Amino acid sequence: MSSRESTRKTLLVAFCLCVACSIVVSSTAVILKPYQDENRLLDRNKNILTAAGMFDADVDGNDVVAERFAEFTTRVIDLETGEWLDDAALQELEIDLSTYDQRAVINDPRYSEPVPADEDTANIKRRVNYPLVYVREENGTIDTIVLPVNGYGLWGIMYGFLALEGDANTVRGLAFYELKETPGLGAEVRNPRWMALWPGKRVYNDNGEVGLRVVKGPGSGDFQVDGLSGATLTTRGVDNLIQYWLGDTGYGPALDQLQELN
Ligand SMILES: Cc1cc2nc3c(=O)[nH]c(=O)nc-3n(C[C@H](O)[C@H](O)[C@H](O)COP(=O)(O)O)c2cc1C
Repeated sequence: MSSRESTRKTLLVAFCLCVACSIVVSSTAVILKPYQDENRLLDRNKNILTAAGMFDADVDGNDVVAERFAEFTTRVIDLETGEWLDDAALQELEIDLSTYDQRAVINDPRYSEPVPADEDTANIKRRVNYPLVYVREENGTIDTIVLPVNGYGLWGIMYGFLALEGDANTVRGLAFYELKETPGLGAEVRNPRWMALWPGKRVYNDNGEVGLRVVKGPGSGDFQVDGLSGATLTTRGVDNLIQYWLGDTGYGPALDQLQELN
């Protein structure tokens, strides 16, 4: 066999190997996609339930997630007006609840917008205009409202859910599901002992302002949550996101209109 022929054969084998490998990799990606989507949804729903105090990963298995999440209705809010959108409004906006992903549309000017610097207490730069909100009713009255929240910590944007009781004022829980904070320091915002400080705290003071604060050191009373020692910057980020999302810049107007839902 001439050396030219052997080079041709080597290239042919390499080419066939590349084609075979790319077929395996792309078919695996296609086959696994539905499972990945399902797991992502399961994880999101677990986090919503965790914020609402309805899921404890140490005790509950995945089997209860669908059943408990089914108690919630998914709603969409227009942050600009504070309105809770009905089916006609969703149709007009081409929002399909089964596929709408509020994090995926963060750069789409139709569904999100830049946050003006003087309002951007949470340091998020852009925000979605139509967030998904999860509402649970009991005996015809609202019992729990779960709101997606995000804000910059020390190393990056932290994503979580804040759950309120039906009065839209008492905290049920706060659960972060994605962050870049340091394990043992800022990432302690996911420690169940710190999370346990939140239920029962109040958001709005008698003047209707956001009174809830994360303070350095031990907090006291209905409106204060202890900051994490050694992680002041992350806990300041949590404080900032509470001010942003529960104030007039965030869900404040929609929570004011909540009575209309009942
Ligand atoms: C490697 C490294 C990682 C850190 N990670 C965090 C963090 O995730 N969150 C945070 O608030 N502070 C973090 N810090 C500490 C901050 O720099 C700062 O010292 C701290 O927030 C101050 O908190 P204190 O006033 O309660 O001590 C980190 C420090 C170092 C050296």
